Amino acid sequence: MSRNPNVILKTEKLTRYFGALKAVSDVSLEIMEEETRAIIGPNGAGKTTLLDLIVNRTSPTSGKVYFNGKDITNNKPFNIVRKGMCKTFQVSELFPLLTVFENVKIACIQKKGDVFNIFPKSHNYLRDEVMNVLGYVNMQHMKDEIAGELSYGDQKRLEIAITLAMQPKILLLDEPTAGVARQEGYDIMEMINKLAQEFHMTILFIEHDMDIVFNYADKISVMNEGELVVTDTPEKIRNNEFVQNVYLGGAL
Ligand SMILES: Nc1ncnc2c1ncn2[C@@H]1O[C@H](COP(=O)(O)OP(=O)(O)OP(=O)(O)O)[C@@H](O)[C@H]1O
Ligand SMILES: [Mg+2]
Repeated sequence: MSRNPNVILKTEKLTRYFGALKAVSDVSLEIMEEETRAIIGPNGAGKTTLLDLIVNRTSPTSGKVYFNGKDITNNKPFNIVRKGMCKTFQVSELFPLLTVFENVKIACIQKKGDVFNIFPKSHNYLRDEVMNVLGYVNMQHMKDEIAGELSYGDQKRLEIAITLAMQPKILLLDEPTAGVARQEGYDIMEMINKLAQEFHMTILFIEHDMDIVFNYADKISVMNEGELVVTDTPEKIRNNEFVQNVYLGGAL
């Protein structure tokens, strides 16, 4: 019997004003378990704000967010992480003076809810778990490198490792391939895709590179001026006249 997938994330008329500017306007969307959903749209369309509203890094002016059928609107961001929804940390939120290992270790400690102790019980405290997580992003050999001295691409991998330490059911990524060379961008996306399959994770990602979007997304949502313009399959989006005019400039 084929499995009937559930809606894991739902927003209902999610809206956010910044002063007079309606950055996100009545956005209602549904994402199914294990789906990979891309959000595209021009600069300033409201994509980042939408993700921040979903994880309550920015509080909505109005509207609702449901995770696994439960209303999580206005839940504390850390409780949302605990429930299994994580947005990748920005690179600036890494601890730049600590090693790769120590950065992931802090995330593992947070997941366990322990009080962070700068004098850990033993040198091997959590070691296996941290090494396991580093293995997911192929960074075990870099464990002693200083986070702030890594290449930008490796900092992105470390960001993802930190998020994986939280064992998310749904991973929200804001331009995971931005600022890295094209091939490295593809490598990062390939890695995310493999991890998503292995751990049955749902992915919601913002991306400007249309090759990546069309390669990896099951469905694409298009935003413009705060509004959700359309959600559809990659083929339909590629051929959608409105999308071509508004965003793709008729170039595809
Ligand atoms: N904290 C803020 N205060 C005031 N205005 C904001 C704030 N954050 C975002 N905005 C505005 O809200 C609108 C949507 O911004 P947002 O960053 O969500 O767009 P985006 O689609 O992610 O764009 P980009 O593709 O450039 O990342 C923009 O006009 C932006 O200037
Ligand atoms: Mg953005």
